[in-house]
Amino acid sequence: MSGAPSGAPLNLSAGLHSPSPGILDAVMPATDRAAGLPAARGELSGFLLERLTGEPGDWASPPPIPMDARRGEDFHLSLHLCYELHYGGLEDVDERWEWNPALLELRSRLERTFEAALREDVGASEAPSPVEVAAALRGVPGEYPDGRSIAGHVARSASLEQVRELVVLRSAYQLKEADPHSWLIPRLRGGPKVALVEVQSDEYGAGDPARLHQSLYARTMQALGLDGRPGGYLDLIPGVALATANLASLLGLHRRWRGASVGHLAMIEMTSSDANRRCANGLRRLGLGPGVTDFYDEHVEADALHDAIAVNDVAGALARDEPQLAPQILFGARSLFAVEGRFTEHVLDAWDAGATSLLEPLALPAAA
Ligand SMILES: [Fe+2]
Ligand SMILES: [Fe+2]
Repeated sequence: MSGAPSGAPLNLSAGLHSPSPGILDAVMPATDRAAGLPAARGELSGFLLERLTGEPGDWASPPPIPMDARRGEDFHLSLHLCYELHYGGLEDVDERWEWNPALLELRSRLERTFEAALREDVGASEAPSPVEVAAALRGVPGEYPDGRSIAGHVARSASLEQVRELVVLRSAYQLKEADPHSWLIPRLRGGPKVALVEVQSDEYGAGDPARLHQSLYARTMQALGLDGRPGGYLDLIPGVALATANLASLLGLHRRWRGASVGHLAMIEMTSSDANRRCANGLRRLGLGPGVTDFYDEHVEADALHDAIAVNDVAGALARDEPQLAPQILFGARSLFAVEGRFTEHVLDAWDAGATSLLEPLALPAAA
């Protein structure tokens, strides 16, 4: 899986057809090692970064929680730092912080604020009956009312610089693609568990480390002359983009949100194939070859299959097994749509204005 409504997670991997020697010479080594800690974006992230570099312990009075859970820089960097402790970790940060009670309490306060914003975004909607969940998921729009689409822009007219920006923006999620939904595995039973693992197996390369989707994305980044390490561009990724990865972690890390995480997964799989096809075509329009396009091409076929499995055999079956989760499954799908909508608006507004969508312009290695 990879993708999201219309502006779907950029699958821009695919080396250059006729790469200039400079670009490939400049390719950064891909490793699983996380890059160094980012710069603070406000009082809370500054506090967290300072504490995380020391011994795990309690703290008396952390700064107040920032209130902008939609686009806030300090908010989403802070939440991102808390979540990364559960994935690849943070460089030079003691691993015991992962389950530190003070940090978990702080994370919980951030999550309550994020959840409140999502509930406001999604609003009240009619709860489907369990047997209607699959059809209701199909009814969640995959395109935004004004027709704006990042994938459409990539297909038609994005520049190579914009493609690189998009790949950087999506790296917060794509370099750990599938991991947030793997938290679901022990929380499901029977048919939904089996169907989920079928999807996840493909995401993890179906037995071939070279086809691990996270690695395909890292190779896309390298083929574009970018650093493929997790966290390598964290200082450039705005809060509105970190929010897309934080949503997946919020829903994935809590058993009580298992229905919403399944809805999130279904929405990604439903919208990914077409968005990745358009992105891959845009990359070829720019003369980029398989080194860059491989990740996107992989998702065109894979997600056409994952779509039906995720919607019918995971989400639909879970709703029948646990009918009380039906409304939550839709909430997860609609939350993704809301967060991706803000992401799409941010990126296309910046590009329409001739500006960068990153916090600072992207600096490529000198040889590129
Ligand atoms: Fe998929
Ligand atoms: Fe994938």
